[in-house]
Amino acid sequence: MSKRKETSMGGITVPGGGAAITVPGGSAAITVPGGSAAITVVAGGAGFIGSHLCRALLDKGCEIICLDNLQTARASNLRALEGRPGFTFVRADVVQPLPAAITERTARIDRIYNLACPASPPHYQADPEHTLLTSVVGTHHLLRLAEAAGARFLLTSTSEVYGDPEVHPQQEEYRGSVSCTGPRACYDEGKRAAETLAFDYGRSGRAEVRVARLFNTYGPNMDPDDGRVVSNLICQALADRPVTIYGDGSQTRSFCYVSDTVDGLMRMMEADIDGSEPINIGNPVEITVNELVQRVRRIVGREVTVVHRPLPVDDPRRRRPDIARARALLGWSPKVAVDTGLAHTARWFAEEIGVPLHLAAAQAA
Ligand SMILES: NC(=O)c1ccc[n+]([C@@H]2O[C@H](COP(=O)([O-])OP(=O)(O)OC[C@H]3O[C@@H](n4cnc5c(N)ncnc54)[C@H](O)[C@@H]3O)[C@@H](O)[C@H]2O)c1
Repeated sequence: MSKRKETSMGGITVPGGGAAITVPGGSAAITVPGGSAAITVVAGGAGFIGSHLCRALLDKGCEIICLDNLQTARASNLRALEGRPGFTFVRADVVQPLPAAITERTARIDRIYNLACPASPPHYQADPEHTLLTSVVGTHHLLRLAEAAGARFLLTSTSEVYGDPEVHPQQEEYRGSVSCTGPRACYDEGKRAAETLAFDYGRSGRAEVRVARLFNTYGPNMDPDDGRVVSNLICQALADRPVTIYGDGSQTRSFCYVSDTVDGLMRMMEADIDGSEPINIGNPVEITVNELVQRVRRIVGREVTVVHRPLPVDDPRRRRPDIARARALLGWSPKVAVDTGLAHTARWFAEEIGVPLHLAAAQAA
């Protein structure tokens, strides 16, 4: 099925080059890859994880089309990718029929990563209807593209499919405890339905699918204002503002550095597995939010005051992935220790918001 020229780099097969041609797309002209090399589509490629994935694929020599509506993307993520050989950006919403800039290249597309979906609660709850449609209709459009292209398709699902779990740590067999009526349902149930669609396409032989259940991921390129716990705590501490803890801080999370998550996704895409089961990708080191605050305090090198706010509705109390399946099938486990990843992230945020970082943090990174 592969349309790829057979160049293998570190277990990943990469395409050859191809000249760019320009086609009209909406009001502005956009450039799409010409030539005959295989194309990887990264939907949501201008977001936090997507931008790291695009960079890693480009580093491997892949030719990629990043498809994104820029809803929660950061302009600087995109700027860092634009101009790199093999990179093409197409602005489109996956809820709408896919644009000609994509469909005209169907015969060359052989990998589709679907990361398109806002991931932080304030963002995905801002327009819950669109969030649900992004997961369900957007995934459907991309699966149909995968079917037409004979391409392999990878969905980034989420640990939110386990809801507020009664089983700990969370194994893939666990069916979850999710509210279908609460404010998080647009995201959680959207992802569950997207998984259903993907596995139905896989089961019926319409596309070769992979489903990654990502747990909390953090690192550079996060939006400082999107309300995720790591970015919130680091940015508040750097700005000498009180840090916000929702609830009493005894709830646990497990935090995976973004390079590990991207490595897991790329391994899953390329692995010779049947893809009929989801695979957890996350860091099994579990810490409370209170512990996270103490680690951030040490790394940022400042005293912090804490403000407690009420726990959001349906907030999960515990989160820890069981990654036995990822270890066995992909040979994957996280490599970056939490303190190392937090130090890298703090240094990046400090530069981003123009605040000096304590020497201890810079050295730790
Ligand atoms: N970051 C995490 O901790 C985490 C955890 C679990 C799952 N995930 C999943 O990983 C994926 C990427 O997450 P992220 O943290 O990079 O989020 P993000 O919000 O930074 O990136 C999502 C990207 O998708 C784009 N997008 C959103 N809706 C779209 C639409 N309808 N059409 C086209 N593009 C659209 C956004 O503009 C953005 O660039 C998401 O699918 C998310 O559900 C992330």
